[in-house]
Amino acid sequence: MDLALMDWLNLVLRWSHLIVGIAWIGSSFYFVWQDNSLEATADDPERKRLQGEIWMVHGGGFYHARKYKVAPPDLPPHLHWFKWEAYTTWMSGMSLLVVVYYLSGPAFLLPLGSELGYLGGIAVGLGSLIGGWVVYDLLCRSPLGKDDRILALSVVVFIAVLTYVLTHVLSGRAAFLHVGATLGTIMAANVLHVIMPNQRKIVAAMQAGETPDPIWGLKGKQRSVHNTFVTLPVLFLMVSNHYPGLTEHPYSWLVLLAVAAIGAAVRLAFVLRHTGRMKPWMLPACLVAFLAVIGATAATRDLGGPPLSAPLAEGEEAAPDTLEPVVMAIVAARCQTCHARQPTYEGFDEPPKGVVLETPADLRHWAGPVLVQAVHGETMPLGNLTEIRPEERVLLGQWLENKTEGNEQ
Ligand code: HEC
Repeated sequence: MDLALMDWLNLVLRWSHLIVGIAWIGSSFYFVWQDNSLEATADDPERKRLQGEIWMVHGGGFYHARKYKVAPPDLPPHLHWFKWEAYTTWMSGMSLLVVVYYLSGPAFLLPLGSELGYLGGIAVGLGSLIGGWVVYDLLCRSPLGKDDRILALSVVVFIAVLTYVLTHVLSGRAAFLHVGATLGTIMAANVLHVIMPNQRKIVAAMQAGETPDPIWGLKGKQRSVHNTFVTLPVLFLMVSNHYPGLTEHPYSWLVLLAVAAIGAAVRLAFVLRHTGRMKPWMLPACLVAFLAVIGATAATRDLGGPPLSAPLAEGEEAAPDTLEPVVMAIVAARCQTCHARQPTYEGFDEPPKGVVLETPADLRHWAGPVLVQAVHGETMPLGNLTEIRPEERVLLGQWLENKTEGNEQ
């Protein structure tokens, strides 16, 4: 497909995904807060029928909501359901996943030298989404599902195994995204396969004049609670793709799990806060844990393959003409598989974004974006597939800055 058209499709899907995702997570935050903020009502102080009520003021108006333990005595004529936020988030996310990972060649999906092949990679990706839901749903329905804590622990162990496998099979960024997409699929499928059908059963029972079984509501609630704790980890995984330092870390699977766990803990702290049960140490503890992850990530990070040349000593400046062959060797090794007139990287028929980096003149031409992408930032090489070393980025920067300041020789 035409590259520019792909970019537009990518933008429209990403934008839509954000919009509906905000609507879904926003309503999830709102209902969790509301559920935890209910007060006993005057007409049912013992909370026999009603779980409680709440008064709110927003946008200049007053709102009065009440929650029934199982269902109201009579069904109102109009009932608002919340489901399309979830479904459209999943559908837009899936479409974006297809555009970014399944239609644009294996470079984003697989690590360099992977023997899996493009279709194999897609199969692993889709398999993780479907398999993830099947295993999770079986865990919930199994005897483990009777105890919320044991169930939560088993789900965490399962996600840890999935993360380990995916980070060792797919490219770093694809692995992070697929763990996120698996969790997102579980969330949406919880709405589609458990929460909504159970709500429909309650409504149908009432229409038939029967008393609805409270277990339907409780089962929906269990899944809804899972969704609550998964929201922040999923959001982290969706934005993680912009941080190759994390996705390409040698222990990326541990980094993923640690940050996701902190996200879930932050959500827990806020849920407890709604009912005044948050302890003052909880959020600071999350911050300390986060700092510890940052420290551990930095300490164990050694991006890069073997050096191509002896790095310069601190303060030493190489003469631009001696630097040029060194820089061209770096670019040849780290960029040209993709950024050549005829890229050798599988799946690339043309240089990405038209960026060709074959000669010193090319490099000067692209100096600005190269400095942004590969020297000051680490977006390039893509996923650091070609294992550029930090000192090579410095050399590239020294040479480019020299060239663009106009003191060429
Ligand atoms: C494995 C393939 C690959 C390698 C290796 C690679 N790139 Fe890229 N590069 C890409 C792709 C794909 C894009 C388009 C990214 C996008 O659409 O956001 C890109 C885009 C760019 C852009 C344009 C970014 C923009 O949005 O304006 C620059 C500049 C760039 N790369 C520089 C480099 C440099 C410098 C190196 C080597 C140090 C390098 N790339 C190595 C695949 C690669």
